[in-house]
Amino acid sequence: MIENARHEIGSRLESMDRMPTLPTVLFPLLRHLDQPVEKMDVNRVVDWIGKDKSLTVQCLHLANSPLFSHSHSIDTVRTAVVSLGMRRVREIALSCCILRLVPDKPLVLNPVVFWEHALGCALVSRQFAQQIRFPDPERAYLGGLLHDLGLVVNLWIVPDHFREALEKATKERIPLHEAEEQVLGFTHEESGALLAAHWGLGPELQEVIGFHHSVGEAKNHQALVAIVSLSDLLCRMSTLGHGYAEEREVHLTELPGFETLLKACPHLERFDWARFTLEMEAYLPEVRRLVTLLFRSR
Ligand SMILES: [Fe+2]
Ligand SMILES: [Fe+2]
Repeated sequence: MIENARHEIGSRLESMDRMPTLPTVLFPLLRHLDQPVEKMDVNRVVDWIGKDKSLTVQCLHLANSPLFSHSHSIDTVRTAVVSLGMRRVREIALSCCILRLVPDKPLVLNPVVFWEHALGCALVSRQFAQQIRFPDPERAYLGGLLHDLGLVVNLWIVPDHFREALEKATKERIPLHEAEEQVLGFTHEESGALLAAHWGLGPELQEVIGFHHSVGEAKNHQALVAIVSLSDLLCRMSTLGHGYAEEREVHLTELPGFETLLKACPHLERFDWARFTLEMEAYLPEVRRLVTLLFRSR
């Protein structure tokens, strides 16, 4: 077990000595997209995106995917931005940050598997949020997309120990965060929350990233954290997990956070889990196709 793990993550993140650098346009773009919609300037956003080749290509791929729009002939950044909307552009910019951080070669974590899980969980979270009438399903999408940010951090700061944890989890078919706790002495929740704070992501995303495996500890956004947590679990028990399906009996209604979510979204009571799980299968081909396209455009 690594001594003073938390201090270790903090100081390594501080120096960012092992993390790759991010494109310079990303942070001004993200800051701009954090403002209220009326203050945003489409021209500036289009300009920033146009300066980064992979961001441009990713916007175009997503704008043409049936998962995000009904149009199939978007071929300029401007039409993509207008068609996707500013919020979706922010999600793409954040995805781009993480894409740059995942190493190309599947030495420890297969990047394609990581991305299928992130995108799969984002879509499942949004769909779940819509069906239980959570007020803002797009927040659930972004939470789902970024929830495992800490896996990338662990990959960079403790690659050998992280590989050991992933091998243990895969072999024993246990949740990855449990294997991390045993091998590293901390989980991707803690390291992810530190990077989220370092990047200045909002308190809501920090809670999703920091507590998606310990929903009861979330303070202010427990319903959202519970949505992402339950969606993550559904993905991990299907083919959208971390490269293996976890083997265990889970009763979703007994999970921490379920009661809070039920209070916030009473429609949850009539939610048809079996049907929802079947519907998830329908996203798989498009998630796989999109992840392949995003990887080619890095
Ligand atoms: Fe996780
Ligand atoms: Fe996850």
